[in-house]
Amino acid sequence: MKLMNFLPVVSLIAVIVSCNSPVKDEETVTVKAGITKTDWGEFDSSKVYLYTLTNTKGTEVKITNYGGIVTSFVTDDKAGNKSSIVIGFDSLSGYLAKPPYFGALIGRYGNRISDGKFTLDGTAYTLATNNGKNALHGGLKGFDKVVWTSTVMNDTVPSLTLNYLSKDGEEGYPGNLKVTVVYTLTDDDELKIEYNAETDKTTPVNLTNHSYFNLTGDVSNTILNHKLMIDADNYTPVDTTLIPTGEIKSVKGTPFDFTAAKAIGKEIDSVKGGYDHNWVLNKKDNSLQKVAVLSDSLSGRSVEVYSTEPGLQFYTGNFLDGTFINRDGKHINQHTALCMETQHFPDSPNEPSFPSTILKPGEKYHSETVYKVVLNK
Ligand code: BGC
Repeated sequence: MKLMNFLPVVSLIAVIVSCNSPVKDEETVTVKAGITKTDWGEFDSSKVYLYTLTNTKGTEVKITNYGGIVTSFVTDDKAGNKSSIVIGFDSLSGYLAKPPYFGALIGRYGNRISDGKFTLDGTAYTLATNNGKNALHGGLKGFDKVVWTSTVMNDTVPSLTLNYLSKDGEEGYPGNLKVTVVYTLTDDDELKIEYNAETDKTTPVNLTNHSYFNLTGDVSNTILNHKLMIDADNYTPVDTTLIPTGEIKSVKGTPFDFTAAKAIGKEIDSVKGGYDHNWVLNKKDNSLQKVAVLSDSLSGRSVEVYSTEPGLQFYTGNFLDGTFINRDGKHINQHTALCMETQHFPDSPNEPSFPSTILKPGEKYHSETVYKVVLNK
């Protein structure tokens, strides 16, 4: 790494050469210190790669440019054993079987839009609906199911930039939306995700990442013994199709109170189906702040979540039913993994009182989230 600092020009050339040179099937090349690139196949006539980002501690994050998916996040547990704290597959075919957004980038709109409809500046838009009557996570072919252009940055820490142009009318959304997502793995075991976007027509935008965590690294353990703290005094209740009612409700005295760390399983039975709600974070501005902490005593791992976003969708893997099989051959059953999706609130385009998700031409969408792994020995 240090050597690279003395050779910026040489390393930049190396990066450009390796990014442009074809990688043969399953061949792995080192793009720069801390990053390898493996040929992972093809989708929609575009090459798919798997990038491995490794920091100086040996923590390793794998990301594919298909859906911008984080396929694994390998860290040490308290016994010194390595395992992935997110579920996923080791081949592209696993993802082409359409698992429910495992590790993926979500867009153009994270979570649901009621009836797949909204009105902007007097024009009514109809989206592709893919969740009963509602539009979920961008529609039938959201950002999780497209191939992104990938570039490895010549930085001091491993970093991968993904670009995608979502065309005007895609899944019903207005405007050409240029999206850039940068994944960085720091030496402090932080996976940092930066989202940027620009549009040429006014459109709703709500980007997030849909990683499913199980800090034990083993889906034979449920996440019900994990402890969670969410810095939120309020949440948004939902109707039977999981669309917010528009109400902002206090968590006090309800199973939704995670203001002090508590076991996820403690009151989950009082929430029909399990947790799948948006928490209204206490943070008052769009600076990057700690919004949640997930911890597991079995592995000694914790994940601190920092975000610029106003909301957190906490989802306890309620619809996971064993259909999909994790990389270690074990079935991914209900409540064996959970998501902490930092984002704006669901259905905001139809709820004027929620923070706005509307991006206009000339404006810049910017959002950041950090998942920091901490080991408590
Ligand atoms: C949603 C769930 C959905 C899951 C997977 C979550 O973000 O809130 O309702 O089932 O994603 O699709």
